[in-house]
Amino acid sequence: MERSPAMTSVDANWTEFHKKDVSEKLPFFARNGRLYDCLFAQQFDRELLTRLFKTADALREMTKKKEGMDYAGSLLSHVRAMLYFVQPSTRTFLSFLNAAHILGIRTSEIRDTSTSSEVKGESPEDTVRTFSSYVDLIIMRHPAPGFVEKTAWLMNRTNRPVPIINGGSGKDQHPTQALLDAYTLYRSFNGEMDNKKIAMVGDLKRGRTVRSLTYLMKNYRNISLAFVSPEEFRMEADILEFLKRHGIPFTETGDLRSVMGGADAVYMTRVQDEHDKAGESGAVDYSPFYFKTEHLKLIKKTCVIMHPLPRRHEIEPAVDEDPRAVFWRQERNGMWARAALMAYIFGADSKING
Ligand code: NCD
Repeated sequence: MERSPAMTSVDANWTEFHKKDVSEKLPFFARNGRLYDCLFAQQFDRELLTRLFKTADALREMTKKKEGMDYAGSLLSHVRAMLYFVQPSTRTFLSFLNAAHILGIRTSEIRDTSTSSEVKGESPEDTVRTFSSYVDLIIMRHPAPGFVEKTAWLMNRTNRPVPIINGGSGKDQHPTQALLDAYTLYRSFNGEMDNKKIAMVGDLKRGRTVRSLTYLMKNYRNISLAFVSPEEFRMEADILEFLKRHGIPFTETGDLRSVMGGADAVYMTRVQDEHDKAGESGAVDYSPFYFKTEHLKLIKKTCVIMHPLPRRHEIEPAVDEDPRAVFWRQERNGMWARAALMAYIFGADSKING
């Protein structure tokens, strides 16, 4: 398709912006000293994380009673949000939707580009800009890495910007998953996040959740990470460099049993074969990266077993009965953590925390 000269200069500006280091980009996605677009896990510092966890705790307590739920539902009843999820999603979509409703936010959704004007040839950029004409917040999941960031960048250059929240972009980032994962650790460890050993297991190369969670762990002291994966799916070099730069120790191994006894959290993931080019995951033996009931005796009494879900075979269902299996709680924590984030972005969190 032929492109207009104006389009080309926008593209050039975007390319220029996109290649900057995240630390340089952060001011562009903040307003009045507050996070505005939520795109990268690197946007969360320790203070903000604690604030969001406290808001999430207060909100779940408050909404146990009808009066509290009615109050929460009045906080953002003037806000409308669009959920644009054009990549499969169950939990992230439903938790954002319900989190929005808890705060009184009215929602609309597109879950498939075949039902939007993208079928008529409208660019994804124009499609998203169209949403912003009708709503005050866009939450999006998109298969193309960088597209959510590009949308936020484009929106911030218009005369009617709206905040953008990244609900998962390609295989690069899933910041709100990292937020709920950290919230789950916070609740599991009674607020004590420092001095933890975390094992991340599975397809670390293409798993955006483990990438984002790794960035987030920089906010805590004396953290060490154990990356456990098949040779083919080792953590990417950019993340390992990030850890080296920040002096965070890590190990890499293919032997799950060897890290079990020392871990405070074991974070399991599935193989991300939607990113295969030609079915290459099929050639990898993933079974050494399954958590089985026999492993329960190897982990500490206080260790938590996590998974962003959906699971395939990485955790044997019988493990669910063990109190250290926290992934169903983790799933529910997502709704509260995301509600806390939206309340914060719209400045309503002080009405929850007091
Ligand atoms: C994850 C994702 O979409 O990246 N799922 C989720 O959001 N809970 C993990 C996955 O799909 O494996």
